[in-house]
Amino acid sequence: ALKVSSVKTLADQPNLNHIPPAYVFRTSSTNDQGPEDGEASEEPIPVVDFSLLTSGTPDQRSRVVQDLGYACQEWGFFMVINHGVDEGLTKRILQGCGEFFDLTEEEKSEYEGRHVLDPIRCGTSFNASVEEIFFWRDYLKVMVHPEFHSPNKPARFSEVLEEYTKAVRGVVRRLLGGISESLGLESCHLDRILDLESSLQILTANLYPPCPQPELAMGMPPHSDHGLLTMLIQNGIGGLQIHHKGRWVKVNAVPGAFLVNTGDHMEILSNGKYGSVLHRAVVNDKTTRMSISVSNGPSPETIVSPVQELLENGSCPAAYIGMKYKDYLELQQSNKLDGNSCLNRVR
Ligand code: SIN
Ligand code: FE2
Repeated sequence: ALKVSSVKTLADQPNLNHIPPAYVFRTSSTNDQGPEDGEASEEPIPVVDFSLLTSGTPDQRSRVVQDLGYACQEWGFFMVINHGVDEGLTKRILQGCGEFFDLTEEEKSEYEGRHVLDPIRCGTSFNASVEEIFFWRDYLKVMVHPEFHSPNKPARFSEVLEEYTKAVRGVVRRLLGGISESLGLESCHLDRILDLESSLQILTANLYPPCPQPELAMGMPPHSDHGLLTMLIQNGIGGLQIHHKGRWVKVNAVPGAFLVNTGDHMEILSNGKYGSVLHRAVVNDKTTRMSISVSNGPSPETIVSPVQELLENGSCPAAYIGMKYKDYLELQQSNKLDGNSCLNRVR
């Protein structure tokens, strides 16, 4: 396998005005991504007021549950405001991840990606061992739950990582309660069948340095996420695009909000009602963009299949074959990201 150094090191070279051929994902003359790869439009995405879910009146609460159902069904992406996660804490996790990327290559090499299920892994692109074209992205991936792991550098990073991901888990559990209700289930239903006490939670920090030819490169190619809900924050710089009704839509969260999307396992559970949406990250030539996503799944050992109660006594057949979450994760992470999910659909 070709060994690629980090994009950060590459982008730090003085007078870099072309990207190496290995990073050319799309060319101006050919359209690698199909006809829908035109200019992305800007559209507002649904907004969910978390505070009404936790302390609203019964009317407000049922309204938010409806909002959640609409957001999951029509978009698969929404913004969560008034979530109660301290702004200082989000600043600290962004700063901590930035400091990790600033470590020397040698310091980071301790965590260089080996196996895709290693609890701490950093690297470049998505899966440089199987890719022919690299993405303009460096990453750090850490499994933080049910067992907590953390790199031991930079100083005090592990405390911030633990505190932040715990706070995110709290928001996720409440959101899943609301989503459970929006499916016509008891609010604790998903919690119960998925063993969320032992939920697998993975934090991924993405670094997208300035790119001299952003129109040719790609930060993250189109993909859907594994798991139930992904919670994303960014350093104020946009770049995320989601595939919505046949077009790419640019998304930029209001400061302080979480960008949330439903993952492949929500699609399986809801038997396709809440589809997992393709999204990608484009890069720019001016500023370093950083995003931090936290994926939240069931426990690694859970076999995820469509919720029995949603199949209406067999009148609505299961559209997906169940698969153990851990096995799914290993399969997805070992592949190339090519826009195809690893969902096991019944044909
Ligand atoms: C991701 O989809 O995991 C990254 C998205 C982003 O950087 O905005
Ligand atoms: Fe993603």
